[in-house]
Amino acid sequence: MRFQTLPDLAAVRALDSADPLATMRDRFSLPEGIVYLDGNSLGALPRTTAERIADVVTNEWGRDLIGSWNSADWIGAARRVGARIAPLIGAMASEVLVADSTSVNLYKLLIAALKASPDRDTILSEPGNFPTDLYVADGAAWSVGAKVRTLPVDGLIAAIDDGVAVVMLTHVHYKTGAMLDMAAITAAAHAKGALVLWDLSHSVGAVPVDLDGCNADLAVGCGYKYLNGGPGAPAFLYVAERHQARLRSPLSGWMGHATPFAFEDGYAPAGDIGRFLCGTPPIIGLAALEEGVKLFEEVSFEALVAKSRSLSSLFVDLMEARCGADGFTLISPRDATARGSHVSYAHPEAHAICQALIARGVIGDFRAPDALRLGFTPLYTSHEDIWRAVDILAQVMRERLWDDPRYRERAAVT
Ligand SMILES: Cc1ncc(COP(=O)(O)O)c(C=O)c1O
Repeated sequence: MRFQTLPDLAAVRALDSADPLATMRDRFSLPEGIVYLDGNSLGALPRTTAERIADVVTNEWGRDLIGSWNSADWIGAARRVGARIAPLIGAMASEVLVADSTSVNLYKLLIAALKASPDRDTILSEPGNFPTDLYVADGAAWSVGAKVRTLPVDGLIAAIDDGVAVVMLTHVHYKTGAMLDMAAITAAAHAKGALVLWDLSHSVGAVPVDLDGCNADLAVGCGYKYLNGGPGAPAFLYVAERHQARLRSPLSGWMGHATPFAFEDGYAPAGDIGRFLCGTPPIIGLAALEEGVKLFEEVSFEALVAKSRSLSSLFVDLMEARCGADGFTLISPRDATARGSHVSYAHPEAHAICQALIARGVIGDFRAPDALRLGFTPLYTSHEDIWRAVDILAQVMRERLWDDPRYRERAAVT
């Protein structure tokens, strides 16, 4: 979408007044004076989270001690929170589990897929995929004597042959925000006998995802981005019901056993999605994630997606109008329906520009080598935030405020 005429500040405020999600902003604890455009990396803090964590720590742990595994349903948390995520990704409750990190879940599902197709030995992915996806693929291939092949997405479908066990792709690209056609790629891979593993880290809670509708096989995703589960929140995984009995996790810990509390010597995987659990679940992290995920139950997903597109389109339009001559190259799709909820611009001074923005209260991030990335979280980002961000960016460029030696220093985490 594109705004017909470039909105002025009054028009931008009118968009916020008409926003059906406007009241959700107050459900988050956002510092005054900050424009937070990095919720695609670390989501903001829901107001109820601190209270919930205090309750888990003080009452469930401190008072009720070990009894909370039953009385507070700690033991069911991985499935319960998974079931709450399921509607956001077009899955059944019985197909989603919260466990481990996205990296570890990638490993479990890649090995499961490779082992399920013993006559195939290749993981196919794209160059420039998120690093952990490619690194974990490398480790998974090494573990079982398989190999990793990468090809640009354009040529990827044609390259799926009878050696490919699993195609592993990120649905919304972490840098460019480009969104892949899940239905078409999944169908093409199936036609060649391969499974597909989707990384939904930049999709869940921001764009429509219909795993079951696409006949998807496997998926993983982060809990700390748009789901607002907090730093290092546990991740989720999806295994289509039709695959659950035949796929097995290589990390055969006791929580994935059919009867963990029978304390048997031999491993027998659970008959359902539970077989993809490994060890004792992180209860405090799960509780924080549940608070983030619960917020989605109060909003219409259509409204969420419409707002995401409205925010990112406004940003791109304002950038063209106000920073069009400043050397930025849009590396995200121009069409809002073809991208996720973040946009990126290449600029030779992207790192210094990002630091100059942060120093002025506009928090986005830098992705090496030259991308300035801004994320728009429809639950709490307003149109006025977008206006302010571009206004400050225009000033940073006009007055060369980025040209400061302090902004060239690279922090450990960018
Ligand atoms: C596409 C994608 N996959 C995975 C991850 C991170 O995985 P983990 O939580 O295991 O570090 C990220 C983090 O930004 C990501 O963007």
